[in-house]
Amino acid sequence: MPAIAPVRIGGIEVPTPVVLSPMAGVTNWPFRVICEEYGPDGLYVAEMITARALVARNPKALRLCRFAPSERVRSLQLYGVNPAIVEQAARIVVDEDMADHVDLNFGCPVPKVTRRGGGSALPWKTDIYTDLIRRVVRVCGEAGIPVTAKIRVGIDHDHETFLEAGHIAQEEGCAAVTLHARTTAEYYGGHSDWSRIGELKERLDIPVFGNGDIWGADDALAMIRETGCDGVAIGRGCQGRPWLFADIRHAFEGSDERFNPTLGEVCRVIRRHAGLLVEFYDGDERMAVHDLRKHVAWYLKGFPVGGSTRRAFMECESLADVDREIARLDPDVEFPPRVVDKPRGRVRFAKKVHLPYGWLDSRTTSHEERETLFGDDPMDASY
Ligand SMILES: Cc1cc2nc3c(=O)[nH]c(=O)nc-3n(C[C@H](O)[C@H](O)[C@H](O)COP(=O)(O)O)c2cc1C
Repeated sequence: MPAIAPVRIGGIEVPTPVVLSPMAGVTNWPFRVICEEYGPDGLYVAEMITARALVARNPKALRLCRFAPSERVRSLQLYGVNPAIVEQAARIVVDEDMADHVDLNFGCPVPKVTRRGGGSALPWKTDIYTDLIRRVVRVCGEAGIPVTAKIRVGIDHDHETFLEAGHIAQEEGCAAVTLHARTTAEYYGGHSDWSRIGELKERLDIPVFGNGDIWGADDALAMIRETGCDGVAIGRGCQGRPWLFADIRHAFEGSDERFNPTLGEVCRVIRRHAGLLVEFYDGDERMAVHDLRKHVAWYLKGFPVGGSTRRAFMECESLADVDREIARLDPDVEFPPRVVDKPRGRVRFAKKVHLPYGWLDSRTTSHEERETLFGDDPMDASY
């Protein structure tokens, strides 16, 4: 087993090389704070912020850029297709001292993103990909803010981009790369092909974080052992299980200690999460409790609480409703062994990869293509 050492991302040290992978709708500051309490030495990334929405100062986008005072490193992820717009967003981040670390999203497989050339479609067009990274690294570099890139293996196995994308990221000054070892076509189906993480690690000098299908601390150890990657990034595995960060820290220290909380302990986490979400939504309990719903489904996964309890949580409209449902549960129920370290969240293959017309015909863009691409941005609509 290789030594699991702290990783440096520019000027930031990550003593336990584990990253909370950005997840839209999940990794806002309340969830990050809870995760960080279990694993204070990792890196906890906010969900992706659409560059265009930040530039337009969209209030919802600005809310997603907030951090709790307790967060050790303020880590933001930017998403965009147009390098000039992402550069403007980075300028705002720098001028307004909004973050300590900026990650760039080149991994999103969602059709409304890739059909406009964004997320995991972008590294295919090496001219835009390079230009975007170069501009953001330059702007962030002025403030000593490290930039990292999050990529997938490629669009599909006939159109793999990860080795080139990793190399370009390194050449353009990124401080680290995270590889989610699936293609866009694989979406969240099958298993992340960790051997690709090993291939990338062999070719790069900057730290490589491996990502995909870490469901328990032993998976994190296995990924590092099998690939030699410098650290791991966790997405779905910590949904409803923020204590996974403590388990991983223990595992990296060589300890077998693992958290298997009782239902009562899980309910205390749910209640704390609900309270933090109320703060996040500026006191709006209804919005907080609606945001909490998906988390409750994950927190209760595998516990024998019954469908009516789950439905009742989904109908909560206030903290008092949440308290009432928690009070009905038996706090002594043990953590269900059948869900320990098991997959959760999205698991589908893509039905079809959506790309801009003629996208795969060339590795670079024509002037006309850029005009069409940069005209508008698919994610505006989501804010
Ligand atoms: C609900 C959800 C939202 C996601 N949002 C983002 C995002 O905003 N930015 C990003 O780079 N990746 C996003 N991802 C991808 C994850 O960061 C991660 O790369 C992927 O889930 C694979 O890791 P896992 O197997 O540990 O889940 C999202 C994944 C999920 C399930």
